[in-house]
Amino acid sequence: MAANLSEALAAPAPGLPDRALMPHHVAIVMDGNGRWAQQRALPRTVGHREGAKTVRRIVQACTERGIGVLTLFAFSSENWRRPRPEVEVLMNLFLTTLRGEIRRLDNANIQLRFIGEPAAFPSTLQDYIAKAQRRTANNTGLTLVIAANYGGRWDIAQAARRASEEVSAGRLRCEEITPEIVHRYTCLADLPEPDLFIRTAGEQRISNFLLWQMAYTELYFTDRLWPDFDPADLDAACAAFAGRERRFGLTSEQIARGRGA
Ligand code: IPE
Ligand code: IPE
Ligand code: MG
Repeated sequence: MAANLSEALAAPAPGLPDRALMPHHVAIVMDGNGRWAQQRALPRTVGHREGAKTVRRIVQACTERGIGVLTLFAFSSENWRRPRPEVEVLMNLFLTTLRGEIRRLDNANIQLRFIGEPAAFPSTLQDYIAKAQRRTANNTGLTLVIAANYGGRWDIAQAARRASEEVSAGRLRCEEITPEIVHRYTCLADLPEPDLFIRTAGEQRISNFLLWQMAYTELYFTDRLWPDFDPADLDAACAAFAGRERRFGLTSEQIARGRGA
């Protein structure tokens, strides 16, 4: 039994790795909504609704576990190519979920951010996204990033474009463009890079998610479909992460000696 509150907060929850071994930033490809519904002979859109419920559970689980940043892939730049009725249901679902959850998120001190190109969304959704970001901008708890109309290649291209604009304006020289400079223009540049990537539903690919930011992210794949993914599955992913050795190009011996000694 912890002697005081700070000890209690520092102690890992039962079954979870030590806090130092917990990922700070978790990025998830929430996949398998369609298959979840198809397995039940239901329309794919029912799977998306169930998936939205999972988002609520996992956001709460992340706050309880002290995870700092959760980035969720909600809609890729390629998902526009799906049948129009499915895209329309998804747009409506984003709006209703946002409307229904914003108060709860704000009360839980969660900062909500969106990455991607909102301009393609219906204007009511764009307005609500802007409003939700403003409302939660000063919150200091979990940073919840929603990748919507996002693509990793788009992200790198827009960073290159913005750096080029600086060159054209005479504020940057071509020779000064390094990975560190490009990084400044990519999405999430002000946040630590993802430590742990989770993809549900069995597919082992990145599907144009955070290509730049995941250079050294640990990858974890599970067959669980997103509507079935629960906090115990999150804990299993965190436990796997805790067992990894992240070397960042160094040798195991260097890591054991303490960071490149
Ligand atoms: C992920 O589930 C949700 C989105 C891409 C919006 P899917 O709709 O891709 O589900 P599957 O892969 O068809 O099962
Ligand atoms: C990736 O899932 C995008 C999201 C989860 C939003 P997809 O279902 O679109 O990926 P692919 O098509 O199987 O690669
Ligand atoms: Mg899919």
